[in-house]
Amino acid sequence: MRRVLVTGSAGFIGYYLCEALLAQGDAVLGYDALTDYYDVALKRARLARLARHNNFQAVEALLEDEAALNAACEAFQPEVIVHLAGQPGVRYSIDHPRTYINANIIGSFNILEIARRHQVQHCLMASTSSVYGAGRDMPYNERQKCDTPMSLYAATKKASEALGHSQAHIFDIPVTMFRFFTVYGPWGRPDMAPIKFSKAIMEGRAIEVYNHGDLYRDFTYVEDLVEGIRLLIDCPPQRPARAEEIADDDSLSPVAPFRVVNIGNSTQVYLMDFIAAMERHLGVEAKKTYLPMQPGDVPATWADCRLLERLTGYRPRTDLDTGVARFVDWYRSYYDTA
Ligand SMILES: NC(=O)c1ccc[n+]([C@@H]2O[C@H](COP(=O)([O-])OP(=O)(O)OC[C@H]3O[C@@H](n4cnc5c(N)ncnc54)[C@H](O)[C@@H]3O)[C@@H](O)[C@H]2O)c1
Repeated sequence: MRRVLVTGSAGFIGYYLCEALLAQGDAVLGYDALTDYYDVALKRARLARLARHNNFQAVEALLEDEAALNAACEAFQPEVIVHLAGQPGVRYSIDHPRTYINANIIGSFNILEIARRHQVQHCLMASTSSVYGAGRDMPYNERQKCDTPMSLYAATKKASEALGHSQAHIFDIPVTMFRFFTVYGPWGRPDMAPIKFSKAIMEGRAIEVYNHGDLYRDFTYVEDLVEGIRLLIDCPPQRPARAEEIADDDSLSPVAPFRVVNIGNSTQVYLMDFIAAMERHLGVEAKKTYLPMQPGDVPATWADCRLLERLTGYRPRTDLDTGVARFVDWYRSYYDTA
């Protein structure tokens, strides 16, 4: 039975990944501090579902708490790490910058130390499409330059990519960094558009539509994303013998067992179309307040996922209507708004 450390197990994506790994017979140690960035009851409800599995154990502690992290891993002896814990959100990073430095930089460094100490087979860590920053060359591919983060959130994720590369190189740890694109689905995050919009729509309040609706996002359905992660676990990067051996479409480092992989849906969705799908499934037309662009935000994202497909044979493809329908069903039952 493979032993996998999943950080962020009480979080949106971490919860789904734990379910998928437990279903295939892995033993999972979930590590999460249940921070109060959003409703802790939702995090507890996700963990309660995971606790039904015999092969799941949970530790509630901060990534920055080296002693707690070391003790948990000494006992569990992880063979693979999927590091999803972190402080997300572009807008929150404007007023709470240090939370991002602590969770995303110090926290990721501590995880890389665990990977080194336990010589894990593969350490996979979450980055974000926000690292493409001011880049306008779309769809974004992993090989393009992205040195223009537009928020501290993006900067800390870019920094964690750099930490991953250096430790992969020096200590020979296979490291894969995922770049996720706007993830949505049941059990989602209350700070993200689907829950914020649903709450406002059901309460008859206006939804806030940024950049006057002129926004495009590569919305990725959570189960598609997690299937991509699950398959990538079995594709650890190998240090290339010669840089010339690296395929043109591969983001593999020329010197280290390190690779960056986009996981998106590969479709640009107009925000107003996303809102229309929500209105259709909620059966209510939204009142809308049109606002300018939020500081730190980008007008569009769009993923090139050909590398994911080449490595794993898989390409996320749940269409928007199906994904929104599943989200709305869950929203109604969880928040009891039927
Ligand atoms: N959801 C998206 O659309 C999206 C897009 C791009 C990148 N990401 C990245 O994917 C990862 C998972 O995102 P998510 O949507 O599941 O977020 P989430 O907030 O639901 O989950 C993150 C979990 O990490 C935990 N956590 C936060 N800081 C911690 C700390 N210092 N120590 C221990 N635990 C801590 C939280 O309690 C939470 O349960 C994050 O790294 C995020 O930045 C998410």
